[in-house]
Amino acid sequence: MHTPTTFRKRTLLSSALLAACLALSGMAQAQSPIVIKFSHVVAEQTPKGQGALKFKELAEKKLPGKVQVQVFPSSQLFGDAKELEALLLGDVQFIAPSLSKFDRYTKKIQVFDLPFLFDDIDAVDRFQSGPQGKALLESMKARGLLGLGYWHNGMKQLSTNKDKLTRPEDVKGLKFRIQASDVLEAQFRALGANPQKMAFAEVYQALQTGVVDGQENTWSNIYSQKFHEVQKTIAETNHGVIDYMVVTNVKWWEGLPADVRKGLSEAMTEATAHANKLASDINEADRKKITDAGKAKIQKLSKDDVASWRKTMEPVWKKFEGDIGRDLIDGAQKANK
Ligand code: LMR
Repeated sequence: MHTPTTFRKRTLLSSALLAACLALSGMAQAQSPIVIKFSHVVAEQTPKGQGALKFKELAEKKLPGKVQVQVFPSSQLFGDAKELEALLLGDVQFIAPSLSKFDRYTKKIQVFDLPFLFDDIDAVDRFQSGPQGKALLESMKARGLLGLGYWHNGMKQLSTNKDKLTRPEDVKGLKFRIQASDVLEAQFRALGANPQKMAFAEVYQALQTGVVDGQENTWSNIYSQKFHEVQKTIAETNHGVIDYMVVTNVKWWEGLPADVRKGLSEAMTEATAHANKLASDINEADRKKITDAGKAKIQKLSKDDVASWRKTMEPVWKKFEGDIGRDLIDGAQKANK
């Protein structure tokens, strides 16, 4: 028979046990934050490198003890060829590939690669912030990818190991490294050049050894990868854009505790604003550093020169209109002012 005293003692004992268990599990939680890996392929001083570091700082500040964000720049963890797969396998939780690298997952995002579609990065920003841009962030959910935001880099310039680079004729027959994008492949074929898809981490060496003659990229990527040291001329073509989508694994994201997901979303929004504010300044400063370094010549183009590049590249639009959709191309054009 339980006397009231033994009953009370037992109840007290089990509440103490329960409290101890709760405290222990709380400690375990406090001791083991969720480790979040953010992998990317560029240098830390670039717009994307800075965005990733800002995200880490903000996420850890908003969720103290709950998350630990590890950032791996410069293809240290995964390069271009592997990062999307790694994300889907759960080996990394955030990546920010350039928009050119999604064409295996959606044809629609190819809109960003169409040459001379956007006048400048502000137009790109307007398109991304509009309903069509926002819808693209969610367009790969069925493939396991969720876009959390767009990060800017900037407009692309063209570089080669030749002295003359003002007109499309100057690149005929030359070999160019391109990102893994069918649109970019078609763009270089339209110029009569030979495109070669290649991971970002391999470009410097390919330029240095003459495996390829040229490439296209932003000032910040050209400077931070030292491409200007192994190229003779950089033409200021602004013919396209390199921007990023920060993506995560849908299942992982949806499985997070609600407070963690909320904190990470807020950190992402703020890091996005921070990176996007920096991007143009970083590119401008790097353009100047390239000029000051005096290795590659920066070739300014006349209006007529630019028109000749545009005319030669523009047939690419028609080729991809079916895959991308006329509505997206129209929407992007409307973002130009
Ligand atoms: C490239 O491959 O040239 C770029 O997409 C690299 C990057 O992430 O900016």
